[in-house]
Amino acid sequence: MVTVHMNPRDEILRILLSHRGEIVTGNDLGAALGISRSAVWRHIKVLRAEGYRIYSRTNNGYCLEGNADRLSAADIIPKLKGGLGRDIDIYKTIDSTNTFAKSLAVLGAKHGKTIISDTQEIGRGQTGRDFFSPAGSGIYMSVIIRPNFLAEDTMLITTAAAVAVTDAISEVCGLNTGIKWVNDIYSNTSMRKLCGILAEASVGMETSQLEYVVIGIGINVNNTSFPAELKRTATSLYLETGHFFDRNTLIVKVLDALDNRISQIPSAAFLEEYRNLSILIGKDVNVTHGNRNFTAKVLEIDSRGRLVVKPDNAPVSVLSSGSVALIS
Ligand code: BTN
Repeated sequence: MVTVHMNPRDEILRILLSHRGEIVTGNDLGAALGISRSAVWRHIKVLRAEGYRIYSRTNNGYCLEGNADRLSAADIIPKLKGGLGRDIDIYKTIDSTNTFAKSLAVLGAKHGKTIISDTQEIGRGQTGRDFFSPAGSGIYMSVIIRPNFLAEDTMLITTAAAVAVTDAISEVCGLNTGIKWVNDIYSNTSMRKLCGILAEASVGMETSQLEYVVIGIGINVNNTSFPAELKRTATSLYLETGHFFDRNTLIVKVLDALDNRISQIPSAAFLEEYRNLSILIGKDVNVTHGNRNFTAKVLEIDSRGRLVVKPDNAPVSVLSSGSVALIS
C-alpha cells in the first residue's frame, strides 16, 4: 500500500493534473490513495464545487479538463523578469485579495509583494460593486507597490496598470483589447468586459506622498459561461478566442508588464498608448460622479489620466473619479 502524506483531495488533484485531459479510473485513484472508490467520488465532488472541471465517465473514470491549471508560485517566480511578484502568497480562497494585501501593506509588506487567490468570497470592484470571482477559471491578484510618487499620481498608476494588462493579454492570447476609463479592459470584438482593476492607495497625511498602493487585478480567463445577470456584459479570454490559457503564464506577463509600465510613470510614456486603446474618446457616455448623473461627450484623456468630458448643457468638466457607461 502507498503511504500518502498529502491530504487526499490534493493528491487526487495532483494525479489528475499530471494526467490532464486523460481518464484516470476511480480504482487507480482509490488504490493510489488507499481509499475506496466512493471516497474518491466524494473528494471529486468537493473539487468540482471548488471549480475544477472534472468529467466522470460511468464505470470508467475521471478526467480533468485539459486546460485546468493550478496557481503555483513555484511556476511563476522563476519566470519573472522584473521586480514585482518575487514574493507571492497563493490562496485557494480568500475574502478579497485587495483587502488582505492592504492589511499586509499596513504591517509593512514590501514593494512587489503579491497576493493571488483561486477564488474570492467578497471580490470587490469600483464604487462598491462585487467582482464575480469563481474558482479555477480567473486571475484575482493584488500587488503592493511602494512608489515614490505623490497622491495626485494615483490616477497614472491606475492607467499604467490598465495598459500593462492589455500588454500581457496581447502577448499571451494574441487578443486586441480596449480600455474603458479608467481601468476596465474590454474585448474589442464583443465589447464585453474581460478585466477590472481596483487600485487603492494610502497617502501620508503630512507629506502627500503615497505610502503604498494596492493594485488589484481581476481577469476572466477560462470561464466558459457567466451567470444570467452578467452574460450580456462580461466575457472571458476563452469565450473571446476559443482557447484556454495557463493562468500562471498570464500572471508572469501581467507582473512584468506592470513593472515596466510603472517605471514609465515619471514620463507618462504609456499615456499615448492608453489614449489609443480608449474605447471612449469621441463617444457619448452617461457619467456618474458622486450623486450626479449626466450625459456627455468624451473629449480626451489629459496628461494626468483624467477624463475630459463636455456635458450636454454645461461647460467642459475634468473627471478624476466617477464611472462612465457608453451610450449605445
Ligand atoms: C472593477 O471591475 O470595478 C474592478 C474589479 C477589481 C477586481 C480585483 S480581483 C483582485 C482584487 N481583489 C478584489 O477584491 N478586487 C480586485
